[in-house]
Amino acid sequence: MSLHSRRHPRQRPAHVARQGVRTMTVTPLHALVTGLGLTLASACALAEELPDASVEIEDAIEYRQDALGVMAWQIGPLGAMAQGKRDFDAELFLEKARRLAAVAPLPWEGFVKGSLQGDDHGVETDALADIADDYEDFDQRYHTLIEETAKLAEMADGGDQDALFKQVATVGNTCKGCHDNFRAE
Ligand code: HEC
Repeated sequence: MSLHSRRHPRQRPAHVARQGVRTMTVTPLHALVTGLGLTLASACALAEELPDASVEIEDAIEYRQDALGVMAWQIGPLGAMAQGKRDFDAELFLEKARRLAAVAPLPWEGFVKGSLQGDDHGVETDALADIADDYEDFDQRYHTLIEETAKLAEMADGGDQDALFKQVATVGNTCKGCHDNFRAE
């Protein structure tokens, strides 16, 4: 089952490029991956308020819930391996970690003004109104998730198993921390 590694042997730049940063110049592997994390995480200043909706509110809600579901799907096997519920499989781990890092930046654009609980849009959502009240914290939390998943994907390329499992826990805690604060029970 070395299909995956044969297809992308040491080509993370290409892999990253497929995720939509084609204009980035190709730099050495680690610099690129670390740079990507940094660009996403720290180069954009934290926003203080929810972005305005440029689409229908119900579409934004549906989009973010779908994207969160995709994220959960990708982290599933990683969590199972980290918890010993599934045998460690380095190839699968790497693939899932890369996919998780690829989707981690996606759900957040679906959190827009007028799309939270109590906003009178008539759509079922667990997104608490606190997201608008403390958007900087929400923003910080999802940037941390983007960073930590990028780190996991980088580590997964040959990384030590225990360290990988710890990093899965760090990512999982980032999910949980935000849910505890901003998602309805
Ligand atoms: C920055 C905050 C934040 C982070 C980080 C976060 N979530 Fe969530 N998540 C939410 C909010 C808010 C909702 C409720 C969205 C809604 O109902 O509109 C949610 C909902 C979900 C849902 C339900 C989607 C649905 O179909 O209604 C899943 C699954 C989920 N999150 C998984 C994850 C996983 C897995 C992670 C980490 C890899 C994660 N989330 C990280 C805030 C976050």
